[in-house]
Amino acid sequence: MVIYKAKDYKDMSRKAANIISAQVIMKPNCVLGLATGSSPIGAYKQLIEWYEKGDLDFAEVKTINLDEYKGLSKESEQSYYYFMYHNLFEHININLNNTHIQNGMAKDEELECDRYNRIIHSLGGIDLQLLGLGHNGHIGFNEPDQAFEKDTHLVELAESTISANSRLFDNPDDVPRYAYTMGIKTIMQAKKILVIVSGEDKADIVKSAFFGPVTPKVPASILQMHNDVILVGDEAALSKVIN
Ligand code: GLP
Repeated sequence: MVIYKAKDYKDMSRKAANIISAQVIMKPNCVLGLATGSSPIGAYKQLIEWYEKGDLDFAEVKTINLDEYKGLSKESEQSYYYFMYHNLFEHININLNNTHIQNGMAKDEELECDRYNRIIHSLGGIDLQLLGLGHNGHIGFNEPDQAFEKDTHLVELAESTISANSRLFDNPDDVPRYAYTMGIKTIMQAKKILVIVSGEDKADIVKSAFFGPVTPKVPASILQMHNDVILVGDEAALSKVIN
């Protein structure tokens, strides 16, 4: 694993965007695995800026997102589709047909998971997977104690995840209890993984995920077994692992 220490959120975002840009430049038709949450917003802003300057071209890029809430439609402001569209896709020249997110409104959960797994397969796997890190070590919505070997599946969200994400909803009771997520197996099959972390509140989980035992109790700890992981964190998030 390579660790890059950034000064602050802005610097972390710029470093992360640099790595994503390098991937897009080296392989213009690459498959990017994308994430939502507060962590990647700055990196997406930076990519948009470079696109607007004419330094990046997303015309052939394909994307596949980690997760989506069950029960939220694309139009819902809290859906991850809405997040991706407004924080990235509508600002760049990506072909929306080449962007993929689970359908939170699918009637049949099993069919939806199968459909998503088939898409990942047909894309030929993921070149670069971007990940944020939940406070309990979740990646995507792979919560503690789930099997490491899964593909896309439906999960019941942990209470701590529901309360962490309730900040984005008007009413905490509106946070969906279930979500679709790409599984750990699929994430581990990505050729390269880029993890971004910011803030003092992530310092403990960074330590246990990357320097503690590999255990399903801390889903992100499995990343220690991947041979091409880049961790970009700001000083606060890395404060318990490097000086
Ligand atoms: C959410 C998302 C994850 C995200 C994580 C951290 O629950 N499902 O994909 O990486 O929590 O979010 P944040 O970056 O806002 O801390």
